[in-house]
Amino acid sequence: DWTMGAYREEAIQKIRDQVGDAKVICGLSGGVDSSVAAVLIHEAIGDNLTCVFVDHGLLRQGEADEVITMFRDHYNIPLIHADERDLFLGELTGVSDPEVKRKTIGRLFIDVFQKHANEIEGAAFLAQGTLYPDVIESVSFSGGPSVTIKSHHNVGGLPEKMGLKLVEPLRELFKDEVRALGRELGLPQSFIGRHPFPGPGLAIRCPGEITPEKLDILRKADAVFIDQIRKHGLYDEIWQAFVALLPVRTVGVMGDGRTYDYACAMRAVTSVDGMTADYYPFSHDFLGETATRIINEVRGINRVTYDVTSKPPGTIEWE
Ligand code: XMP
Repeated sequence: DWTMGAYREEAIQKIRDQVGDAKVICGLSGGVDSSVAAVLIHEAIGDNLTCVFVDHGLLRQGEADEVITMFRDHYNIPLIHADERDLFLGELTGVSDPEVKRKTIGRLFIDVFQKHANEIEGAAFLAQGTLYPDVIESVSFSGGPSVTIKSHHNVGGLPEKMGLKLVEPLRELFKDEVRALGRELGLPQSFIGRHPFPGPGLAIRCPGEITPEKLDILRKADAVFIDQIRKHGLYDEIWQAFVALLPVRTVGVMGDGRTYDYACAMRAVTSVDGMTADYYPFSHDFLGETATRIINEVRGINRVTYDVTSKPPGTIEWE
């Protein structure tokens, strides 16, 4: 793609001009945006870039390994793997309010990131995969009050506190352009096409209090749902798909015994930018087959529902 090829060269030159010989740190979430930003910056300044990947224990099945393998082994980008699962899950014990969850995770994320970033001597810049829509969304609509529905966590305020300047090489791009740039940079399609995943991770897909047991059940059910979607060739038609584990147990029957286990909700939506969304019209066959697989393969769930709420009035995530 000629346009993206030219954009890539231009962006690399801009990063070199801005950063010079200084060191840059980049928080890696495993999402497309921060990954593309990291690979682009690595191409511009090589090992003057160090990435920090914080595992908060709220990732999906296999996700941490995928990210680490890709960046360390495939791209050879210096990467600090901060395994902070115990810290996050410890602090989230007893927390059930969605906004308190987000704020707790956001605060810990900044602490942990700062702690590890301090180990990188001479770091002068912080890289972020901020996109154009993020820039716009942080500006309130003129003429009306600005309403916060969910306080998305980011590293706002961190750069000043750490005395770092920001590098945001994706600031002019939309999501589809970031994906095109990622392709241009040689990131595998399986990675580029991945659905967005929220910073607070599975915490906001597990309404109510989070426990390691619930997270374990949720991860397994989510993996089955995504596997079904891939097997039916639907992954790329869907903006986001996941399972939410409901904080309620229901009665069921299995063999000749009574069960009393969790209910879960499958959620899949189409969207252009995440601001509005429609639920995905799966066939009844697909829904039935997937429900059966989840109940058979995941111990702890005995009832499966499908969320048919669009946004608005629903939001994509359950919290
Ligand atoms: P909602 O649920 O608000 O989600 O319709 C819109 C998009 O934003 C993602 N999302 C988040 N991303 N931190 C994030 O980084 C958050 O706290 C957060 N909450 C929602 C959501 O996954 C969807 O893509």
